Amino acid sequence: MPPRVVVMGDPSELATEFAVLAGLEPVAWVPGGLVVAPFAGGRSPDEQRTRLDAVALPWRADDGPAPPLPFPAAVGGGVYRRSPGHAPAPPGTPEVVLVDGEGFGLAEHATTGMCLDMLDGLPDGPALDAGCGSGILALAWARLGRGAVLAVDLDPHAVAQARESAWASGLDAMVTVRRAALNVLAPEEVAGRVVLVNAPRVAQDALLAVPGDPVPAAVLISGLQADDMHEVAGAWEARGLMVTRSDAVGRWHAVALGAP
Ligand SMILES: C[S@@+](CC[C@H](N)C(=O)[O-])C[C@H]1O[C@@H](n2cnc3c(N)ncnc32)[C@H](O)[C@@H]1O
Repeated sequence: MPPRVVVMGDPSELATEFAVLAGLEPVAWVPGGLVVAPFAGGRSPDEQRTRLDAVALPWRADDGPAPPLPFPAAVGGGVYRRSPGHAPAPPGTPEVVLVDGEGFGLAEHATTGMCLDMLDGLPDGPALDAGCGSGILALAWARLGRGAVLAVDLDPHAVAQARESAWASGLDAMVTVRRAALNVLAPEEVAGRVVLVNAPRVAQDALLAVPGDPVPAAVLISGLQADDMHEVAGAWEARGLMVTRSDAVGRWHAVALGAP
């Protein structure tokens, strides 16, 4: 497979196939087609060959340059996530733009992927992205029109990246990014919100240590293995929430809890 190909089709055909095309690293829209650079985002040749074979549109080789891309693009939870160097989404496809950086959540990770897929089962409303990393969950929540988000992380590199990504996505009015440890959040920054927390056990415990035992509208927990998930979900159940959905990929578990 050449380093750059043009997948040919009219705009509606390309939009219909876009969930697959996103994984082939789109780099430019051209008349009658979408230029993709399948190897530029770091995915394996075998994976990309399989992906290209799954596209129900013709393609031809293209001799332009294949720019290196900082991370692979993808569609998850109905949102196209891309770098500034990727081509934009077709009209009607929600997208977020993540700038390069050190925050977790740029590459495809099972824990982030499960969270994105489980957003649609949560109630609309203001959210707290607790341990936001790159900002991917906060940006997806805002882009999908679910509500405003407070995104918090201890890591200054993640905070800078999430903030810049909110600007790059045009979502800075909806997503507030702040550097903080989760245990020092004010109770009203947790109570009544949809809390998204894809983070290790120490961060889950820090969130549970916010004074006053605030009760969120819903909690989406990920980033834990079975034993820790049992204990952390149990702590939220003790505050009156109940498990509404669960998922697992390999050893990683994700659980959503909401009002009974
Ligand atoms: C696994 S990453 C998740 C990033 C992103 N939310 C996602 O779903 O891909 C967990 C994040 O939690 C942050 N974190 C860990 N402990 C924390 C704490 N006590 N307070 C605030 N952030 C914390 C880390 O810096 C890291 O960015």
